[in-house]
Amino acid sequence: MSTAKKEYKRITVKTLVDMKANGQKISMLTAYDYTMAKIVDGAGIDVILVGDSASNVMAGHETTLPITLDQMIYHASSVVRAVNRSLVVVDLPFGSYQSDPKEALRSSIRIMKESGGHAVKLEGGKEIKESIKRILHAGIPVMGHLGLTPQSIYKFGTYTVRAKEEAEAEKLLEDAKMLERIGCFAIVLEKIPAELAKKVAESVSIPIIGIGAGPDVDGQVLVVHDMLGMTHEFNPRFLRRYLNLFDDMTEAIAQYVDDVKTQDFPNDSEKY
Ligand code: KIV
Repeated sequence: MSTAKKEYKRITVKTLVDMKANGQKISMLTAYDYTMAKIVDGAGIDVILVGDSASNVMAGHETTLPITLDQMIYHASSVVRAVNRSLVVVDLPFGSYQSDPKEALRSSIRIMKESGGHAVKLEGGKEIKESIKRILHAGIPVMGHLGLTPQSIYKFGTYTVRAKEEAEAEKLLEDAKMLERIGCFAIVLEKIPAELAKKVAESVSIPIIGIGAGPDVDGQVLVVHDMLGMTHEFNPRFLRRYLNLFDDMTEAIAQYVDDVKTQDFPNDSEKY
């Protein structure tokens, strides 16, 4: 059992801010269904992100753009039913908040009401400031997301490291300070230089959760299917694989196929 698990029975947005103040690192993983969320929560993770990466991982789309608000609510409600301890953060999908602050609020309210999630996450900085303020005013906790923002993939054109140039790095730092000022409880920084991530983490009092942002931030997030090795085509430098489930599962399923074909399964003790 981890120290964090002993100290905090239930993770809230306030717990995360306290963890940063106490120098305790925050662990975050994605989950999109009940069974995976049960394992992730039971293993002591602090935050479960119902990421719009479900669009890639669960539905096989090339980008995160196609997933809908209804689909995100379905995934999030499955996760919430499994969770006893973790904070559940749900991504607002592409097209559910960019038009105007009222739409952003309506989408966030649907997520909170229909899934039981505890907070929402949105991609972007000052362009979506008014939307974030509107959501926060309704009492809904907001996690920001800066750096590589996959919902804007067609604007960037590639998934390479962001904010390497001075101007983009400065804007990112300003956006992070703004997100803190208006009341976001944490920010995800995706795929930016480690030095910049360190500077951002030192410049704000809310937790910075990194993915491909180096070690000097307040926590780390990975896509659970990637870190378990269930996916194998995605190999960025920042990804550490803790298992190779793709091979293990393939082997187990191939063995089952063989057992069925050879009538090894079911045997006498496996029948009624
Ligand atoms: O959707 C997602 O999984 C994310 C993480 C990569 C941070 O936003």
